[in-house]
Amino acid sequence: MLSLRPLTDTIGTEVSGIDLAGPISGRDFDRIYATWLNTTILLFRNQSMTPQQQIDFSRRFGDLLVYTRSENALPDHPEVLVLSNLKKDGKAIGSSASGRYWHSDGHYLKCPPAASLLYAAEVPPSGGDTWFANMQAAYDALPAEIKVQIDSRQVIISRVKSRPYNYPEKPPVTPEERAAWPDMPQPLVRTHPRTGRKALYVGGNVPWNVVGMPEAESNILIPELQSFATQPRFIYIHRWRAGDAILWDNRSSIHRATPYDEVNHQRLMYRTTIAGEEAF
Ligand code: OGA
Ligand code: MN
Repeated sequence: MLSLRPLTDTIGTEVSGIDLAGPISGRDFDRIYATWLNTTILLFRNQSMTPQQQIDFSRRFGDLLVYTRSENALPDHPEVLVLSNLKKDGKAIGSSASGRYWHSDGHYLKCPPAASLLYAAEVPPSGGDTWFANMQAAYDALPAEIKVQIDSRQVIISRVKSRPYNYPEKPPVTPEERAAWPDMPQPLVRTHPRTGRKALYVGGNVPWNVVGMPEAESNILIPELQSFATQPRFIYIHRWRAGDAILWDNRSSIHRATPYDEVNHQRLMYRTTIAGEEAF
């Protein structure tokens, strides 16, 4: 029997009594879907899925996206992105470092993915936790005068600008990367296309430029919003066990990875990504 338990007061639900690999009735799926929209992330424990079963479950939420570089995907399943420090024949089998700063997947895309499903196959004994923040709860809690100030604003999401913040160890952006990474205006407050609820859409550690606002002002406003949204009261920290799967809504939450001992321990995660729509 399907049962639901809140992960914290503000974010997330643990769903138990369900096998993601098996057939799921329309009735159970509707409850899962509604709970997901409501609480932004879902945790399913003790799962055992093949890549094809993960794809089949993910497809019930929408079309899947294959936007990441193919060398990080499973050879037979381009929809499945591998996040791992493991190597095969001396070659990385997937993406090793992913998003150790607060972010919403594909924020820099014109049509950012609606959702991501991350399934843990192998996890280190400590570290490698993933943090999640509910951006609807954060928006709701903002003072009314801030809401008025930000409601119809846009921010310029720029991979060129974010690179030195997120990957300080990498070399400077090349002209080719610059050409491939156009600035992407996104709403600062995002309306959920299914529920109409508003969410802050401003993850990270980058003081994004607000369109029509002097830089000196947005350099203060954006970091303030970012730290407001990631206060302990809006977040859930997930300590992974093998067999866990988490589905998050990129339209209403942000998340971040954390480090672990990559030399002595192994982490192997599979991610499917559900296509989304232009943000508004
Ligand atoms: C992701 C991501 C976090 C993690 O897959 O999009 O940010 O802890 N992963 O692996
Ligand atoms: Mn991510």
